[in-house]
Amino acid sequence: MTNKKYVAAIDQGTTSTRCMIFDQEGNPVSSSQMEHEQIYPQPGWVEHDAMEIWSRTQDVIRGALEKGNIDSKEIAAVGITNQRETTVVWDKNTGKPIYNAIVWQCMRTQDFCLEWEKEAGANEKVNQKTGLVISTYFSGPKIKWILDNVPGAKEKAQRGELLFGNIDTWLIWNLTGGPNGGVHVTDMTNASRTMLMNIKTLQWDDEMLDFLGIPKSMLPQIKPSSCVYGNTTPNGAFKASIPVAGDLGDQQAAVFGQVCYDVGEAKNTYGTGNFMLLNIGKTPTLSKSGLLTTVAYSLKEGEAIYALEGSMAITGAAIQWLRDNLRLFDDAADSEWFASKVKDTGGIYFVPAFSGLFAPYWDMRARGCIVGLTRYIRKEHIIRATLESICYQTLDVQKAMEADSGVPLTELKVDGGAVRNNLLMQLQADLLGVPVVRPKVNETTALGAAYAAGLATGFWTSLDELRKHWKVDKKFEPVMSTEKREEMYGGWKKAIEKAKGWID
Ligand code: G3P
Repeated sequence: MTNKKYVAAIDQGTTSTRCMIFDQEGNPVSSSQMEHEQIYPQPGWVEHDAMEIWSRTQDVIRGALEKGNIDSKEIAAVGITNQRETTVVWDKNTGKPIYNAIVWQCMRTQDFCLEWEKEAGANEKVNQKTGLVISTYFSGPKIKWILDNVPGAKEKAQRGELLFGNIDTWLIWNLTGGPNGGVHVTDMTNASRTMLMNIKTLQWDDEMLDFLGIPKSMLPQIKPSSCVYGNTTPNGAFKASIPVAGDLGDQQAAVFGQVCYDVGEAKNTYGTGNFMLLNIGKTPTLSKSGLLTTVAYSLKEGEAIYALEGSMAITGAAIQWLRDNLRLFDDAADSEWFASKVKDTGGIYFVPAFSGLFAPYWDMRARGCIVGLTRYIRKEHIIRATLESICYQTLDVQKAMEADSGVPLTELKVDGGAVRNNLLMQLQADLLGVPVVRPKVNETTALGAAYAAGLATGFWTSLDELRKHWKVDKKFEPVMSTEKREEMYGGWKKAIEKAKGWID
């Protein structure tokens, strides 16, 4: 182990893929990142090309090694973290996907989910079994759509020729040899987002599979988040045989990287969406307030630590939308400068319900809206309202978490790209009424995957050792009065009512 100085993490997100290499203290020493195409075949549909994602993954691995002048032989292990729920189905003999990856935000399964939801007791049953709710968000209905709509897919699946995976599974299978002996695995955190894993037994649920018409032979083996799944092939981008030893969905990886190992610890990640997770320990308690019950991480076969999750579909994606679709600025970072040019939003609210509303409302029929417009409104107000919408969505989730746990939040650990926006962080602290704490390493998603891989291979030895790496960069204290906060939040609740139920 002496020549091993680093652990590599591959963070395959909704908009880009990154390889980051960390040293023994958990500091990033090299990183390479590439975007991939977002494919929108119809309103509400979102796809990715899984082959493009695999090719970008190899590019960023090579990029990070090269930039850091790192020899693969110095890497102890590789961890994978990924956009969750996004669904790939491929032919196990050719290694080629039979359809584009259907992205978590995609709403093509809306009609099916709305019909399913109408069945008496259906939502309760799904919630009891999987910890989730009926929604277009999860993988199960997406697999069903592929099997129902791609010619010949059902027959091929029944003959055992097709494999399903979320992006973690797809990458691990390819990294470990693809059609030539690649391992077909996932971890419990990813499996808990498919709608196919029983949240209590931590096994695939036969009744869910039968209902959705998915043959079990397509599914990967469910493993802990930290264990050796296989080795990279020496003819691949790493040019060496390195254990692939960590696998977590990106939001759970952030929990792990933020060292939220104790019950009651929570983090909020600011990415394409926001995802706030609260560690609830070894019992998968169900939410009464619109949160999901999910696996936070698993360090041992058959054992899991659970979390309550508030998923907010569109947060950073709303800033990208201002940049790419409305062209209000060229660089997402400029949103801070524009928003600071006005003292408030001029009374407008923006509800970015582009994929319906997720937690805590779970309304597939909702669509986005901007309300309260007058001729006074300039682009700066719209930009500020977009930043505020991220904070209000987090506040909705905080309230749900407090209602479920009965424990008030005392501070919030944050991470993800947008936490560099100081105005956003101050608004967040003001609207939550609790301090917001930004760590030194804010790429905690990749860090969490590296930690899982390093723990499995002895590079790191304990959770306590990892805890010591965590350091504060900045703490944002709330300064807004309670009256002001309540008045602003009241407007948001009215705006939410306008967005709800837009589609008949
Ligand atoms: O559940 C979706 C989530 O995993 C996506 O995360 O970071 O790609 O926006 P991100």
